[in-house]
Amino acid sequence: MYGTSILHLTTLKDWSEADVLRTVERSIDIKRNPRHYSAALSGKTLALLFQKTSTRTRCAGEIGMTQLGGHALYLDWRNTNFGLADLGDEVRVLSSYADFIVARLMQHDDVLRAAEASTAPIMNGCCNRYHPLQGLTDLMTVHEALGRLEGVRLTYVGVLNNVANSLIAAGLKTGMHVTCICPEVNPAARDEALYSEASAAGLYEYGEEAEQLQDVLAQSDVVYTDTWIDMEFFTDPAFAEEKERRIALFQPFQINADLVQNLDLKILHCLPAHHGYEITGDMLHDPRSLIFTQAENRLHSQKAVLLQLANAPE
Ligand code: CP
Repeated sequence: MYGTSILHLTTLKDWSEADVLRTVERSIDIKRNPRHYSAALSGKTLALLFQKTSTRTRCAGEIGMTQLGGHALYLDWRNTNFGLADLGDEVRVLSSYADFIVARLMQHDDVLRAAEASTAPIMNGCCNRYHPLQGLTDLMTVHEALGRLEGVRLTYVGVLNNVANSLIAAGLKTGMHVTCICPEVNPAARDEALYSEASAAGLYEYGEEAEQLQDVLAQSDVVYTDTWIDMEFFTDPAFAEEKERRIALFQPFQINADLVQNLDLKILHCLPAHHGYEITGDMLHDPRSLIFTQAENRLHSQKAVLLQLANAPE
């Protein structure tokens, strides 16, 4: 089997606490001292293989690699032979050219197949179950704002999805408590083993009722939301009926000025946001919002992940 001893980032569940904390600490240092890292990956290449659109993950990867002294190559899945061939064959070939691969694939099983075949570290760039690059950025953003992770109480509101899973896994590694107030779990994302482990560790709670929000948010340091509808379905006519059902169901869970009135908490969203759905547009610019800092931090964090996977010296 190829690549079995390589550290990949398919899900945060597989990373040690030390890997997670070192990456968070280094991402903050990279933000403060970017020049110190300007040749850290000189001569190395990052390939970005995407089945779905992206702004942050793609740009943070390409620009971050340039800032580390390396080179990045973007591959739109549809313009390659990945769709015609065996995934393992194609990934094995790509990994013989590139030193790192970010793979944004629809299915987590395909991310695992890619990691199994690859001779270079694979970073999951967001699949149906996890978004670990986002989770590490979120830890960085919370740590930067609050000066700690252990004991922080983060409440995630909306549909329990890939981003929520990565927050729960991130909390489990760092002692950050995650409460999900979600009327529905995205069926493709459901990870009962993760929820059980985090719950047993006292780091995860789940509720389904909008009436719980006021009390839970009053105890929270951070409120976090994400789209109610996966981005590939948002404008899909075949998804229109389901979209209307979700909007009606999730409307009471919208992050808006009334909900967070007088609350001392930070507001996060992984973006892209759908204004007027999961969050009102004014909340992105609220003094409590860290949303654009969080988006910027994707760059610093993704550079730190590359260095962690490269086992780069301090
Ligand atoms: N949050 C996030 O992954 O953004 P993109 O889809 O634009 O990469």
